[in-house]
Amino acid sequence: MLNYGVIGCGAVFEVFQVNALAQASGVKLLAVCDINQDRLSAIQKKYQVPRTYTDYHALLQDKDIEVVMINLPQHLHREIALKSAQAGKHVYVEKPIATTLKDARDIIESCRENGVKLCVGHQRRFITTELKAKEMIEAGELGKIFKVRAVACWFEARKSLLSKDWWYKKECGGGPLMRWGVHKTDTLHFLLGKKPLRVYAEMGQFVHQGGGVTVEDNLLALYRFEGDIIGELEVSNSQHEWKFGGEYIEIFGDKGTLRYWPSEGIMRIYIPGNKDPLPGCEETIEIIPDGKEMIRIHESFVKSIEKNTSPPVTGEEGYVALEMALGAYYSAETGKAVRFPLTNEAGG
Ligand SMILES: NC(=O)c1ccc[n+]([C@@H]2O[C@H](COP(=O)([O-])OP(=O)(O)OC[C@H]3O[C@@H](n4cnc5c(N)ncnc54)[C@H](O)[C@@H]3O)[C@@H](O)[C@H]2O)c1
Repeated sequence: MLNYGVIGCGAVFEVFQVNALAQASGVKLLAVCDINQDRLSAIQKKYQVPRTYTDYHALLQDKDIEVVMINLPQHLHREIALKSAQAGKHVYVEKPIATTLKDARDIIESCRENGVKLCVGHQRRFITTELKAKEMIEAGELGKIFKVRAVACWFEARKSLLSKDWWYKKECGGGPLMRWGVHKTDTLHFLLGKKPLRVYAEMGQFVHQGGGVTVEDNLLALYRFEGDIIGELEVSNSQHEWKFGGEYIEIFGDKGTLRYWPSEGIMRIYIPGNKDPLPGCEETIEIIPDGKEMIRIHESFVKSIEKNTSPPVTGEEGYVALEMALGAYYSAETGKAVRFPLTNEAGG
């Protein structure tokens, strides 16, 4: 059983994490920290967390804390991740690992130097539909994969967008690409198990303009992966969509096609053999997501600490997801295709 101390008790903590931490075997939520005293008191009262801190330095001095979970806006990850590692705590940092590759490298390096484990919060890898897609690819059910597409597009009301400054400011890692598209860059990398080689992207502020908004509201990126695979990523926070309609994954192999709606749980597989397309060749399976992805990632992280094995999502994997996103930004800003690894000039 490892004692967790959580720094930052905002939306992700309440919506995704607190119940998962309570259910994950091997995890004890011992302490929470937030600079917002009212929020901290409300969380403490609602979830009966034994210890509370308004200053994260005090949480880091708590000798009973073994794992620090960093749930802060992404531009604040670096400093606290480094101090957590220096205090000898294992680090679970929310996605994206950071807002710059330099910060991400510092976090990875500091955890390595201090002999602590690092896990990046790409828990979507553990959604049942994503696990099934990965299993099908690896079993060769779709044949040789040549194209993948990840789409995460919906509408964010202006009032909601402006409710948190880090959501709409570029320097804070706001924008659909950094806020949720980075889950999809991770999904593409995870599903294919291949390195991205280059990217070309287009983006713009078509709808959410003015009022201090400095982030894209739409971005389309085209990746080339090793293994002769094309990947496409599309993100938007200004596209009107029905519930779940704007989030899906498509995987094309030389034997068949898989389309799925990861959060909804519908997976359509079309494997025609040598026949022309016929009605009825398409099989639809329903895998209702069990909502336990956050539990799985923490149970796996705790095991990796206890058994001294690789964490479920390593710092290096979080780095690739971020690098794919930053490469897309650089391409869209310069109008050029950009190669990986990114050069210094491109944010590398
Ligand atoms: N894994 C996922 O699916 C997922 C989903 C949503 C958000 N996230 C990520 O989680 C992170 C947090 O997002 P959020 O939506 O919870 O943000 P939020 O703005 O709702 O909450 C951040 C909290 O941190 C607190 N805080 C700020 N500075 C602090 C400090 N120095 N010490 C202690 N507390 C401090 C704030 O008071 C606030 O309560 C981001 O990196 C975000 O991208 C991940």
